[in-house]
Amino acid sequence: MCGIIGVTGRPDAAELLLEGLERLEYRGYDSAGLVLSVPGSLWRARAAEGTTSVGALRVLAAEAPGASTGLGHTRWATHGHPAVENAHPLFDCTQRVGVVHNGIIENHAEIQGRLVASGHTMASATDTEVLAHLVEERMAGGMGLAESVRVALGEVRGSFSIAVVSSDEPELLVAARRNTPLILGLADGAAFLASDIPALLGQTDRLFVLADDQLAELRPGSIAVSTLDGLPVEPPALSVHWDLAAAQKGGYEDFMSKEIREQPRAVADTLLDRCRPDGSLALDEAKLTDEDLRSITRIHIVACGSSYHAALLARYAIEHWAELAADVDVASEFRYREPVLDPKALALGVSQSGESLDTLLALREARARGARVLGVTNVVDSSIAREADGVLYTRAGPEICVAATKTLLAQIVALDLLALKLAQLRATRSPREISATLDALHRLPAAIEEVVSRAKEVDDVAKALGGARDFFFLGRNVGYPVALEGALKLKELSYLHAEGYPAGELKHGPIALLEPGAVVVGVATRNPLWEKFRSNIAEVKSRGATVVLVANDGDERAAQLADHVLWVPEAEHLLSPVLDIVPLQLFAYRLARLHGLDVDRPRNLAKTVTVE
Ligand code: G6P
Repeated sequence: MCGIIGVTGRPDAAELLLEGLERLEYRGYDSAGLVLSVPGSLWRARAAEGTTSVGALRVLAAEAPGASTGLGHTRWATHGHPAVENAHPLFDCTQRVGVVHNGIIENHAEIQGRLVASGHTMASATDTEVLAHLVEERMAGGMGLAESVRVALGEVRGSFSIAVVSSDEPELLVAARRNTPLILGLADGAAFLASDIPALLGQTDRLFVLADDQLAELRPGSIAVSTLDGLPVEPPALSVHWDLAAAQKGGYEDFMSKEIREQPRAVADTLLDRCRPDGSLALDEAKLTDEDLRSITRIHIVACGSSYHAALLARYAIEHWAELAADVDVASEFRYREPVLDPKALALGVSQSGESLDTLLALREARARGARVLGVTNVVDSSIAREADGVLYTRAGPEICVAATKTLLAQIVALDLLALKLAQLRATRSPREISATLDALHRLPAAIEEVVSRAKEVDDVAKALGGARDFFFLGRNVGYPVALEGALKLKELSYLHAEGYPAGELKHGPIALLEPGAVVVGVATRNPLWEKFRSNIAEVKSRGATVVLVANDGDERAAQLADHVLWVPEAEHLLSPVLDIVPLQLFAYRLARLHGLDVDRPRNLAKTVTVE
């Protein structure tokens, strides 16, 4: 979603904001803007040039006056099309109040009606602008900026992280949040705010979390936090182990290639130190006790996007190893379908960012219905991490490319560890079997390295299919979520038509679409439905489609069936997805590049979606 950054007390405010926006671009790039507080007025620049918005803003900012206080914003449009007039920061009628916002003000139309009736003029089609006018009204009545923001927020419904600046109090920034993330940073003589950690890396390591319904006043060298009701609170410190290098491209052409190549490390780090000398698994950040976990009778997994595919894979692992019932839901559907849960249920939220609003709200719903809650996330102290009863961290480091790669593989192995831990506690698998599977898990990083090293072969296949427009990704058993992920990667990066389907369903519809020119990508690595899957592929072939198979090294039959093969080493079938996904990532990457597209910032998408 939108990215926000703010600073006060730094003479290089404009440059700092621009650098922060460059690192926040993955949250949205429909437009970018900044406002600087200069004596007696606000200076603003905004650009709406799609994926190059921040670059265009940088050009405009060459004219910026010297200033030590300001705010920046990258936008993922919700209300109001992507255009300069809808770009943040948004001003009030007097141009003395500037607001940046991430989230949705649900009752903006109603507030706007009242404001317009009392003489305000709206300059944008956004839901956000009403906030600037509400603050303007309070300040006109003699209230200070912080109190004006506090009172204004009393009128709004919805989700927000906002930051506000006013030329009347030039060194002050006021920030507040409800349901979308905001962090604060403090340094000698300066203070910062941002939607996400990468924006502030290298500026300070004294970071704090602003919680829901809290308001922060930032002045050079000081931060005061209170609830929206006015009670002072101490913000909890945020533990960050990422360094600046990890959030930069480090010599790669784009973040996606860097992050694909970081996958062996992401998986190795996620597995690190999880196994005690006696063979038992230590999921130490999961604060639920062994007794709690043993008493669970059903697991409800919720997630969105690629994390949903990790969740689908986890179901196979949990049911197979731990013999425990597991349901998987798209998070945005779960909370509205009146799910039946009991106190022995565990709700498991899988979210790279720990901030996807649908997942966060689904977990809240599960808790309200009596379940205990476990989060699996890559971001320490994220909202899901803080609200859950326990959290299992993936250790993939910062992921900047909008499309998930390394965090997905890290999620799959983290969920495998959880499934094995449950199997240990429930004694559904022998210690020998568990230990052999753990050994196999530890062999995965080297195998991923091997698959990544074959990128050139994948490139050749992508080049051969450069003119294709329709892709059907098929799989069975654990190959099915892999097919869904392959299709998602291809459509989000290359804007080509791509569908993921369970191959057994082919005959119930999609086969009607197959004709010469269509490409079927099949996940044909060994799993329990391998033989049946081959029959499905033979049916596809006979309809004239071009067939690409992901297959295990040395599989002659696959080579006979397919027009092209993406080879991967063989792994235990439940672990195989960790390898099978990699050539599909590389395939989507290469096709997108062949079509001249920006792989890190696909159109209309955002990395962290903090609206419903
Ligand atoms: C967005 C991103 C995806 C991601 C999904 C879920 O759609 O573009 O890459 O998989 O959100 O995000 P989460 O942070 O909850 O894993």
